[in-house]
Amino acid sequence: MESAPALLGGKPRMSVDAEVARKLGYEVELRHEGKISFYVPKLPSEKGYAPSDLPVFFNPVSKPNRDITILLLKSRFKGSKIKVVEALAGTGVRSVRIARETDVVEEVVANDISAKAVQLIKVNVELNGVGDLVKISNLDANELLSRCGRGRPRYDYVDIDPAGTPAHFLENGFRGCIRGGILAATATDMAALAGAKAESCIRKYDAKPLRSPFSKEIALRILLGFAARTAARLGLAVKPVLSFQRDHYARIFVEVERGKTKAKKTLRKLGWISYCPKCMKIYLAKRFDPPITTCPGCGSKLEYAGPIWLDEYADKGVVSEVLEKAREEVEIYAESLKTLEALALEDTGIVGYFPVNSYAERLKTSPIKPSRLIERLREMGYKATPTHIDPSGIKTDAPLKAVEEVFKEEG
Ligand SMILES: C[S@@+](CC[C@H](N)C(=O)[O-])C[C@H]1O[C@@H](n2cnc3c(N)ncnc32)[C@H](O)[C@@H]1O
Ligand SMILES: [Zn+2]
Repeated sequence: MESAPALLGGKPRMSVDAEVARKLGYEVELRHEGKISFYVPKLPSEKGYAPSDLPVFFNPVSKPNRDITILLLKSRFKGSKIKVVEALAGTGVRSVRIARETDVVEEVVANDISAKAVQLIKVNVELNGVGDLVKISNLDANELLSRCGRGRPRYDYVDIDPAGTPAHFLENGFRGCIRGGILAATATDMAALAGAKAESCIRKYDAKPLRSPFSKEIALRILLGFAARTAARLGLAVKPVLSFQRDHYARIFVEVERGKTKAKKTLRKLGWISYCPKCMKIYLAKRFDPPITTCPGCGSKLEYAGPIWLDEYADKGVVSEVLEKAREEVEIYAESLKTLEALALEDTGIVGYFPVNSYAERLKTSPIKPSRLIERLREMGYKATPTHIDPSGIKTDAPLKAVEEVFKEEG
């Protein structure tokens, strides 16, 4: 990687920082992420501040979100030259990294509604010498994306990374995405999606969340279900290629396909999830069947969530290519490895998971190693895998009785 002074044309750092700060009208700091150096507003601390309170939004915690974006683009579009739009670009770090760290782009549009953001993006684009690839735009994301189509070029890759919900950008995001291209979206409104603010989730996603040991997976599946319904209205179908939940957000990458028949087929992958804490059992129902509200096992009244995406949320082939690329440059991608490695082992076709602690509590015993529980349940003929969302969680189709047997053996 080039050193910052080299990027800064040999001038002393401090004086360049001061020059940039004077130009922008606020204090800045130079940071390094991936293979680039870039300016951000001076952070009050590394964590525990509100990024939205800065003159321009920046959150260092989202590095793995950006890393996985770079990895996915590198593997998915290998050998092509694509057009990318980052509709909500903030400091421009993601767009500049895409331009510098992948060799698959012919154009990256870095757009932000904020004039301050656009001014900072310019500084960062110049600093990294990517002015030939990165085009800067100062529009409302919906305005920019809704212009695409009907004879106007669309993008091979659309990235929607707002602070909060992406719900109101998705429809235009799909309009802006080439058929066969990829749309990515981040949702940071986990309180809504994971059930702490249920009414807010219903308002934004028209879906009911559920507080449960696996709320965060439901959050991811609500976002995917919402994306599938939004695409279907436009006669488009989505195919999730890689989705994950970590830190404060859920992130989806979906392939966009044209066709009403495909869209209708995709909608059959939506439905309801109910959960019985007593039996520790998950029940699913199709979208146009009623959700299961009474436990067939014990007769308890059940809470439900949905509509959610009931099918796989990651493609094994894509995940293993992305993981391979991450392993080639561990010094950049170290933080993302755990998420990707767990995702590679996970059966995302199994809906929900239980942390071993919830089993232990229910069985009134002490927890055992998740890896051992998985191994034993598999030996017994059940499906069992880890989940990338919780290192202590397991996904299985085994009944509580089988789990109890393993706990007794191991306890
Ligand atoms: C979470 S930040 C983007 C972070 C960036 N993608 C990254 O990886 O660091 C969200 C940005 O969206 C911008 N924004 C908010 N509403 C917008 C809109 N309607 N259209 C375009 N940009 C918008 C904000 O100014 C902010 O810079
Ligand atoms: Zn029950």
